[in-house]
Amino acid sequence: MQTAEIRRRWLQFFGDRGHTVVPSASLVSDDPSLLFTVAGMVPFIPYLTGLIPAPYPRATSVQKCIRTNDIEEVGKTPRHGTFFQMNGNFSFGDYFKEQAIEFAWQFLTTPESDGGLGFSPDDLWVTVYEDDDEAIAFWKAHSSLPDERIQRLGKDTNYWSTGQPGPAGPCSEIFFDRGPEYGIDGGPATDDDRYVEIWNLVFMQYQIADVRSKYDFEITGELPNKNIDTGMGLERVAFIKQGVDNMYEIDQVRPVLDKAAEISGRRYGAVHEDDVRMRVIADHVRSALMLIADGVSPSNEGRGYILRRLLRRTVRAMRLLGVEGATFPQLFPESRDAMRDAYPEVASDYDRIARIAYAEEETFLRTLAQGTTILDVAVERAKQDGAPSIGGDTAFLLHDTFGFPIDLTMEMAEEAGVQVDRTAFETLMSEQRARAKADAKSKKTALGDLSVYSAFRAKG
Ligand code: ALA
Repeated sequence: MQTAEIRRRWLQFFGDRGHTVVPSASLVSDDPSLLFTVAGMVPFIPYLTGLIPAPYPRATSVQKCIRTNDIEEVGKTPRHGTFFQMNGNFSFGDYFKEQAIEFAWQFLTTPESDGGLGFSPDDLWVTVYEDDDEAIAFWKAHSSLPDERIQRLGKDTNYWSTGQPGPAGPCSEIFFDRGPEYGIDGGPATDDDRYVEIWNLVFMQYQIADVRSKYDFEITGELPNKNIDTGMGLERVAFIKQGVDNMYEIDQVRPVLDKAAEISGRRYGAVHEDDVRMRVIADHVRSALMLIADGVSPSNEGRGYILRRLLRRTVRAMRLLGVEGATFPQLFPESRDAMRDAYPEVASDYDRIARIAYAEEETFLRTLAQGTTILDVAVERAKQDGAPSIGGDTAFLLHDTFGFPIDLTMEMAEEAGVQVDRTAFETLMSEQRARAKADAKSKKTALGDLSVYSAFRAKG
């Protein structure tokens, strides 16, 4: 089943059940506490918290998302994508736990010929928050899951929030069992390569604050309503339904991977390290395409920095595949063509997107080789000296003169077995910022002085 078809069935199913179909919001979140839209619920936060009355009691969407906190896992696991789409159904004080569980079971297990996804109940497992007896009772009432395929887990996996103060709640996750060839028995509690999480049902009823980490926070009160926020990973379901091994091989991503293989003359499936690089390229090119389409440009800060990092990681991955020249003019059109049906703007705005992406590649290619040599020399020296890390001054030079995002330098150093003195790097960065500020101030002063002369001139 094509990704577009899964999406269509999703919107149809929930649309038919009284949900307003809401188009995807931008990847650039309106919420000042979030750089990007990290989940399907982000555009609905004001309705969940009660800040704004929801204009509809139920909604459904397929939301574009970016998450880069696991960027180093990309390509290594089957399911970590920096860009992904989240199918969501939402209730704002309308239905709650029981109905959400019933909908989920129905959509997953209804045969394909009747508009569902046709999953076999034998392949599904669920987890619930440890003391959520109610959720267990509803799963038993509405599914054919035997008791042992409903597992209780703790706050670290079964409590959901964005990681920022705001709405949160216990959740119930649904998993697909890929079979014994992928790992040990025992359900989601034991293995997460074999048991792939496909859908998270969040019973959103609390307000949290003092968020120290995603799982360490204070519950400060109840939300005005009991809400439902769910998220199904479109790419994850697609890779299962398409019978491929991971999300980088689905119809919306694979063409870029194949192009990277073709350009490099290396075969996908031959050498593990090369496979990881090709998956990184396929993932990052798509994320960059979608970010630029939503108005982000490469820079050294904030969102632009994330985009820059994705683009430069791609350039480096191609280089590690043995390709020296520019490849974006071949890679990006593949991603555009794979995504244009769902997001026509990537095609209509392609000239602008291409200009930004290709220029970034050109710029980085000019300094990549030289910067890599400098890093290699520093790594060798650190190893000879028995030092645990390379100096912050090298990282600063690489950042300032050679355009290496600090995270890329750190990754490259780590691959070679040493760390980077990040504290020293940050000190050099703040010194540079202070210098730039002082410089700007002195220029302003100079301009001020000049204005005195122009006043004289005007009089004369
Ligand atoms: N907001 C929930 C998630 O992202 C559904 O997993």
